[in-house]
Parts: sequence; C-alpha cells; structure tokens
Amino acid sequence: YFQKAAPTAQPTFLLVGPSGGGKTALLTLAERKTVIPTHTSTAPLAIEAVLPEDFTPSTAHYRSPGDPSYERARRFLLLDTPGHGKLRHFATTQLTNPTNVRGIIFVVDAASVAEEAGLNEAAEYLHDVLLALQKRYTGATTSKGPKEIPVLIAANKLDLFTALPPHLVKLSLEKAISEVRKSRAKGLKDSGVALGGEDDGLDEEREWLGEGGEGAFEFRQMEEVGTGVTVMGGNVLGGDGTDVKGWWEWVAEHL
Ligand code: GTP
Ligand code: MG
Repeated sequence: YFQKAAPTAQPTFLLVGPSGGGKTALLTLAERKTVIPTHTSTAPLAIEAVLPEDFTPSTAHYRSPGDPSYERARRFLLLDTPGHGKLRHFATTQLTNPTNVRGIIFVVDAASVAEEAGLNEAAEYLHDVLLALQKRYTGATTSKGPKEIPVLIAANKLDLFTALPPHLVKLSLEKAISEVRKSRAKGLKDSGVALGGEDDGLDEEREWLGEGGEGAFEFRQMEEVGTGVTVMGGNVLGGDGTDVKGWWEWVAEHL
C-alpha cells in the first residue's frame, strides 16, 4: 500500500549565543553576501541560505554541479535567535524539539570573553545549551539514540585586537563552564535540602553536564552524548574583510 512521505523540511542550522556576538551579522552575510548594520534582535528570523560555491556539502560529493540534487543539497535554513537573557526562550524551545537541526552555531564575541563578565555570560548560556542537548540524548526512548547534533563555537570578531585567539576561547569557556556546573549543582542541592525532596540525587545527576567526578569540564566529554564541539575563529566584519571560511566548511561537513 501507500506510505505517507516524511515531511521534507529543510536541514536547519541554529544561531545561538549571547547578545552582540554577531549572529544577525552572520545571517545577513549569508543572505546578501555583504554585511549591513544590525540591531539587537527581539525575535527569531529564518532565512533560506545557499552554501557558498567554494564549499561542497558532505552529502553531495558524488554529484556533479548542475545536477538538480546537487543544487538542492546546498540549501539550508539558517535560524537566528535573540541573545538577550530575557529572550532566550526562542532558542531553548528549538533545543527541546530540534526537528531537522543539523547543527548549532554558538556565536561569541572573542573580545568580550576576554573579560570576566562577558566570559561568564557566554559560559552560562553555553552550559544551558549543552545541557539541553545532553538531556535530549540521555532521555531518548529509541534504542538507536537520537541523531547527533554538533555544536560549532564561532569565535567571532577576531579582527579586534582585544580578541582572544580561538584556543584560548576554548580553554576559558571550558574553565568557566566548570564553575557554572559547580554553582548550579550547589543551587540544586540547597533547594533539595530545603524542600526535603527524596530523589534530589537523581536530579543532580540529570542536571550535571558532562562527566561526573572531580575533574574539570571539557568539551570532548560531550561526544559521549552525541555532540561534537568545535571551536573555530573568524570575523564577519573587519578592516581586512570578512573571514568565515572555517564556519562554512563546518556547515558543509554537517549539511
Ligand atoms: P543579538 O541580536 O542581541 O542577540 O546580537 P547578535 O548576536 O545578533 O549581534 P549582531 O549580529 O547584531 O552584532 C552585534 C554588533 O557586532 C554589530 O554592531 C555588528 O556590526 C558587530 N559585529 C559583528 N561581527 C563582527 C566582527 O566580526 N567584527 C567586529 N568588529 N564587529 C562585528
Ligand atoms: Mg541579532
């Protein structure tokens, strides 16, 4: 008999990260191939993007240019979300039910994470994003486990001389996330004691990001829950032009 076709929704990449990181700038660059001034976002925004010509989607390696399926394989949705602390529900609802999400691009201002306030804000947001992905993975009911969702940490604004180099963005975020993890666990414990809850031990385990134990948090711990994390530098703007090659390569690899 007749089998209903699966909905042919497009592969989607999600832009998340603190306010001012450069998400909307990157989106406009993808849409118009040029950068225009942006304002802080108050609503999500989706565009249909086409992978620039210099990159080949992993799924299209054996097809030739001009073949309609080759062209189709280059298309994806890019979904921008507001980074303001009060507007993050737009991003987090996408994370609880990520249909067709092929990857998450966490855009962060590499100069702002050189300072404590900026670093802590980015670490808290990233912690929550990674924890949502971890819960999705560990809470999955199918034996196969859910599809992997990789995360690209796009260390943006490398044109600024105050920007941290990508390997230091990585180390700083890992260290700061270790602290977030500790303080969240403590908060949970305190509230559990206050409420006298019985299964707070279970809760603590569920809410703990990455490996348990005394060690520090490292991004590679996420591989066990289906999320590879890559940190790559770039800049959307800058006197010497834009450099987002590494990010498109990453998109091509996961498209
Ligand atoms: P929210 O919408 O508030 O979450 O922020 P956003 O992440 O969308 O930031 P947006 O794209 O609006 O960029 C914030 C500011 O950073 C803008 O003034 C951009 O022009 C600027 N900007 C973006 N990318 C770069 C970059 O690579 N280098 C420099 N120097 N500035 C950049
Ligand atoms: Mg924006």
